[in-house]
Amino acid sequence: PRAPRINPSILAADFVNMQRDLAKIATADFAHVDVMDNHFVPNLTFGPQMVERIQATSPVPLDVHLMITDPDRWAPGYAELGAASVTFHLEAAADPVALARKLRAIGARAGVAIKPGTAGESLYDIIDEFDQILVMTVEPGFGGQGFMSETMPKLRGLADEAKRRGSDVWLQVDGGISDSTIEIAAAAGADTFVAGSAVYGADDVEAAVMRLRDLARA
Ligand code: DX5
Ligand code: ZN
Repeated sequence: PRAPRINPSILAADFVNMQRDLAKIATADFAHVDVMDNHFVPNLTFGPQMVERIQATSPVPLDVHLMITDPDRWAPGYAELGAASVTFHLEAAADPVALARKLRAIGARAGVAIKPGTAGESLYDIIDEFDQILVMTVEPGFGGQGFMSETMPKLRGLADEAKRRGSDVWLQVDGGISDSTIEIAAAAGADTFVAGSAVYGADDVEAAVMRLRDLARA
């Protein structure tokens, strides 16, 4: 049985108390770091300078999710600053395979994300180029949105295809993951779960991480 990974999204942290809020997720697997550029998505967070400080401060490795235009140009910089994984959007990349190879060569896990409207089949032939696939379960851009269960057949399809190819790629979900939705995503084949408001909105952050992990395992 696989051990589910819980990656709290610091998009839901207090940006002026980032050090305090990073310390709260020491028992999680990765800190999920949402980089947005006001162009690929209609929201803006931060860039490499901030991520470098988060990297230096986080008790757990970084899982960087780039919601940006032209990742071919910008993604390698996040691998170079030491992020454990760097995930870019398939919809934004000019040459996803070349970019994945570059990220791996730098030493990061290479990740690719797809929006709810993007077909899973577009990744089937290139699964082996990636260490993780992120199936967005909301439209990217904002925390606190509702889980889109209509993305589950696509997740199941990717899980089946990965198995068929003998791939050990991680399957990640992001958006609306909570106590009431995580089991649905786990049942459809996800093994890595991003949660923002469900973790940072809880009174006891550590207990929330543990509860999500238990639910995903069940
Ligand atoms: C949304 C981001 C998510 C976001 C999830 O575009 O990619 O990582 O933080 O937030 P919740 O868990 O609140 O839906
Ligand atoms: Zn994200």
